Amino acid sequence: MTKRSIGVGLISVGWMGRLHSKAYASIRYAYPGASFAPRLVVAADSVQANADHAVDVLGYERATLDYREVLADPEVDVVSICAPNFLHREFALAAAAAGKPFWIEKPTGRDAGETQDIVEAALAADVVTAVGFTYRQAPAVQHARRLIAEGRLGEVTNVKVSMLADYSADPLGAHTWRYETARAGSGVLGDLLSHGIDLATHLVAPVGEVTALTQTVIPERPKPSGATVGHVTASADDPLLPVENEDYASMLVRFAGSRAVGFLEASRVAVGPRSDYALEVYGTEGSLRWTFAAMNELQVCLGRGGDVHGYTTVLAQAGDGDYAHFQPGPGISMGFDDLKTVEAHQFLESVATARQVAPSVADALRAARVVEAAETSAADGAWHLVAAPGSEESPEHAAGMEHTRRLSGQG
Ligand SMILES: NC(=O)c1ccc[n+]([C@@H]2O[C@H](COP(=O)([O-])OP(=O)(O)OC[C@H]3O[C@@H](n4cnc5c(N)ncnc54)[C@H](O)[C@@H]3O)[C@@H](O)[C@H]2O)c1
Repeated sequence: MTKRSIGVGLISVGWMGRLHSKAYASIRYAYPGASFAPRLVVAADSVQANADHAVDVLGYERATLDYREVLADPEVDVVSICAPNFLHREFALAAAAAGKPFWIEKPTGRDAGETQDIVEAALAADVVTAVGFTYRQAPAVQHARRLIAEGRLGEVTNVKVSMLADYSADPLGAHTWRYETARAGSGVLGDLLSHGIDLATHLVAPVGEVTALTQTVIPERPKPSGATVGHVTASADDPLLPVENEDYASMLVRFAGSRAVGFLEASRVAVGPRSDYALEVYGTEGSLRWTFAAMNELQVCLGRGGDVHGYTTVLAQAGDGDYAHFQPGPGISMGFDDLKTVEAHQFLESVATARQVAPSVADALRAARVVEAAETSAADGAWHLVAAPGSEESPEHAAGMEHTRRLSGQG
């Protein structure tokens, strides 16, 4: 089968930039039947060593220090935006202006206003988008979603999502862009809880109302002199800079159009949990539990009473999300990087078929508005309504259908 070549441009070659690249490259193994084949054309990073890495290790044909060269390149059909949060808006608006569909990382801007600008730019340019809400791609999470949608839990009554990590638990953890409001926006609210909000929204309903609290546990961190990628440790001799956003956040929520309520919490300074991301959904007829640590397992209890009342461990298998693309039979684990391959495939599938398969920037806006309401609540201690979705969040709009049809040759 002759596959349509899709030229990929990458902006920012840090942790996520490298993983997006690996995910594109993995499509040929996980989805041999795909009608398209990504071609890694050009990558940009402001740090020369990272730009070099894109060519030497990741396999891009060329690299540059200037992201504008990626967007101006006629061989680039789609773009991955993997920059720190403060650059999301600038890069996404430029990608939209260049008419390039983009896969952008969460939280998609520093705040809801920036996310809204990104949604509107994609809409105006009619380009399809994808957002890195990675955990919803886990096959066991998709299984959970199906059980809830089929009413197997009865009416959903309450939800608990916790995103507990230790990536900043060490006081010597380096001061990076993540700890500055000017470059990150919020702390764990955007970094971790945006994933949790997306999970709850994807499985149950949008969050309608919120009350929250936040706390900064480690007020200062050492700043190393060189460039950093991902989470790194600094030296005690490095100068200390203030941490400007929250290490911990929790919120009580009421879901929109539902009697369900929820508790969502996130920490980046938990000692013990490493990347302990957990979801619990309780209903009138049953409940289910999922954790990232046992990503391929779902704990399910259906019905009350009986002499074998309790949780059954259901293993992800063919039919659950994209599991069958990665493993030949049940009981064999997928990993985090596989979830990014699912994202890469959904993004290019959306572009190639004129059908929005991937979560879009409208999903990012939905999460950003919950974060915004939580920040307001953390400041005044009151309950706050989450801003209602606008017409820009309709699936048709979010999909950039017209542009997508043009790209796919269907319009
Ligand atoms: N989906 C997920 O699970 C997930 C996980 C981690 C991070 N993220 C998100 O991905 C984004 C990037 O995070 P990361 O961990 O990869 O960060 P990182 O610090 O590892 O990488 C950021 C990269 O951006 C580059 N950069 C900075 N300024 C630039 C510019 N002007 N032009 C081009 N490149 C520039 C840096 O040199 C660095 O290579 C963030 O928004 C983060 O929230 C998502």
